[in-house]
Amino acid sequence: MSVKLFASVSLAVWLLTATSTLSQSNIYVLDTNGDPLETDEEYFIRPAITDNGGRFTLINRNQSCPLYVGLENTDLPEGYPVRFTPFANDEDDDDVKVNRDLKVEFVEVSSTCVQSTEWRLGENDTSSGRRVIVTGRDDGRSSVGNYFRIEETQNASIYNIGWCPTEVCPICRFFCGTGGILRENGQILFALDGSALPVVFQKKDD
Ligand SMILES: *[C@@H]1O[C@H](CO)[C@@H](O)[C@H](O)[C@H]1NC(C)=O
Ligand SMILES: *[C@@H]1O[C@H](CO)[C@@H](O)[C@H](O)[C@H]1NC(C)=O
Ligand SMILES: *[C@@H]1O[C@H](CO)[C@@H](O)[C@H](O)[C@H]1NC(C)=O
Repeated sequence: MSVKLFASVSLAVWLLTATSTLSQSNIYVLDTNGDPLETDEEYFIRPAITDNGGRFTLINRNQSCPLYVGLENTDLPEGYPVRFTPFANDEDDDDVKVNRDLKVEFVEVSSTCVQSTEWRLGENDTSSGRRVIVTGRDDGRSSVGNYFRIEETQNASIYNIGWCPTEVCPICRFFCGTGGILRENGQILFALDGSALPVVFQKKDD
């Protein structure tokens, strides 16, 4: 391949990559009824397939605060609903879209921990080498630790939840990850960097 041809191919690839990064998704995230998720509604998150735990909830991992994000051990209707707050939304649009940065917050929680119930990227757990998801406010730069995203899977209405806040900080380089389950001492934690957990969103009071 000539140098000139190689250069123009490289430029085309670069342009394509740059364009796809800039164009933001306008595809709605759907709940288990096939309706778009709304920012002023509450949803339970649960695995799309059985034997992976029940609804998402708060986990007291170590008899101390803050509490971690995890899943109930059973399919019983327990767990806490969440509310989603997009980082950027067009005016008059209260629907949640795929691959866009958003905050996830457990609501209707009664807990003795003073921390906020917003999801936050936690530490790299030494024994598993996976990054756990904890609760609390990220006071660091742009609060990037508080922004997650809902990613599409091959199946309609089934999603993954990941962390890659490039909308909040376009010039940052993140080690992005997708969430899955991490079993520890009889509890189920939600953590990045393992096999991805397919989830569904069930509107509360359905
Ligand atoms: C739980 O707390 C103990 C004592 O503070 C500490 O040694 C241990 O590493 C903690 N475990 C986890 C999973 O954080
Ligand atoms: C977490 O730690 C493991 C080793 O303990 C390492 O292989 C992995 O890259 C770390 N993850 C991140 C995101 O730094
Ligand atoms: C998604 O669909 C594929 C085939 O279309 C199927 O094999 C797979 O089990 C589905 N995944 C879930 C989580 O339902």
